[in-house]
Amino acid sequence: MQQRENWGSRLGFLLAAAGSAVGLGNIWRFPYLTGENGGSAFIVIYLVCVFVIGLSIMIAEFTVGRRSGLAAVGAYKSYSRNWTFVGVIGVLSGFLIMGFYPVVGGWALAYIVKSITGLTSAPDAIGDVFGGFITNSFEPLLWMIAFLAVNVAIVAKGIAGGIEKASKVLMPVLFFLLIFIGIRSVSLPGADAGLSFLFSPDWSVVTGATVLAALGQAFFSLSLGMGCMITYGSYLNKKQNLAKDAVIVTSLDTLCAILAGIAIFPALFAFGMEPAQGPGLVFVVVPSIFAAMGGGVGVFFSTLFFVALAVAALTSSVSLLEVVVAYLIDEKKMARKKAVYLASAVMAVLCVMASLSLGVTSHITVLGVGAFDFFDILTDKIFLAIGGMFLAIFAGWVYKKEDLKAELTNEGTIKMALFEVWYALIKYVIPVAIAVIAFMGVKSIAQTGLMIFGLAVIVVLAIFSKKL
Ligand code: PHE
Repeated sequence: MQQRENWGSRLGFLLAAAGSAVGLGNIWRFPYLTGENGGSAFIVIYLVCVFVIGLSIMIAEFTVGRRSGLAAVGAYKSYSRNWTFVGVIGVLSGFLIMGFYPVVGGWALAYIVKSITGLTSAPDAIGDVFGGFITNSFEPLLWMIAFLAVNVAIVAKGIAGGIEKASKVLMPVLFFLLIFIGIRSVSLPGADAGLSFLFSPDWSVVTGATVLAALGQAFFSLSLGMGCMITYGSYLNKKQNLAKDAVIVTSLDTLCAILAGIAIFPALFAFGMEPAQGPGLVFVVVPSIFAAMGGGVGVFFSTLFFVALAVAALTSSVSLLEVVVAYLIDEKKMARKKAVYLASAVMAVLCVMASLSLGVTSHITVLGVGAFDFFDILTDKIFLAIGGMFLAIFAGWVYKKEDLKAELTNEGTIKMALFEVWYALIKYVIPVAIAVIAFMGVKSIAQTGLMIFGLAVIVVLAIFSKKL
């Protein structure tokens, strides 16, 4: 048998896992969700979801992945065939997220060029430029294809040579840029309103939908609930401390989200803009910050920011692509290159649908939403959270406790102080918490039809995926 690929080093793995976690979720999505959900209270709920639910699930994903040495589907299937469907939901989520993620990644690429060729004018005009750009039927598609092509090139090179190498260089760059922009934003006159929006909670705006949005965002941002961290864990060597690594990745991801918030909201309030402006938020606010700096300096930093955003998106999207590719390699015995081409071709088709749904085909909706929102809401609000719930049930009730303990303590050679606490969370608290949040959320959310559709898909997969 061929030996399984492995990460080249501990740092390499950490940066790749953090690279998967830190992405559009932190810099594009987290700020606009915070803006739409009333600011600080959303952030507090998000943090609870991240550190109570997300962190425990990440530990469980690393554990299950490394123990089995197999990617999402195989990790479940090799332990119990009845649970194959959870892995299948993961692979399906990988396809669906990659049905819109490269579209936004393409926007970031386009904005690198647009920053240089002159985007930095009055804030109103910057908003119009964004609206005009994403509703265009042709230009965003070219950028999306360019973004996807880079993914293909990296993932085709495999684990240590491709994904790990790219992450090692690009992640640190991103981190320092965020700090820099944050400092710039906070020092603008009138920035205080933004800081109090971020840090003094107003609980009256919280509903079931807010909590579901925070939970979904926690899963999305930490790359959980779809087998991505199972897959990355499967390439890990037996010496690494899984619980500690999960703490590092979770903390880094959260830090980057908060930094993105600090980079955006003070500036937004300083310019008197509207926080609840949806997916265009970073593409409008950040160029405005730099426009206010004016001249060559503004152009320089705006360009650099979008380079970093594209990079953050890239280190995440390669992990999404890898989930699907690893499935095809492990389960369908496909060669790596062939798997990469096949998966990305399907993703490209989905992305074309998503991109056009913001413009020419915006009148075509299924269950009340266009393709972009369909892929986004279905994964983020249902598949990831429910996938995480099943993972917790699988680890807590199907997996043998001794197996989990052996894996987490590297066969007894290291200690995991809070093992029992983690185990109780995974076994009892988390499945119940997710079920309750999902139920409350479904009740108070606008897209009930879509939610029910998503749950039906899961039931169908649970029934039929044993044959896969
Ligand atoms: N965590 C990534 C981000 O925040 C997105 C992602 C989700 C990546 C699920 C892999 C798996 O952008």
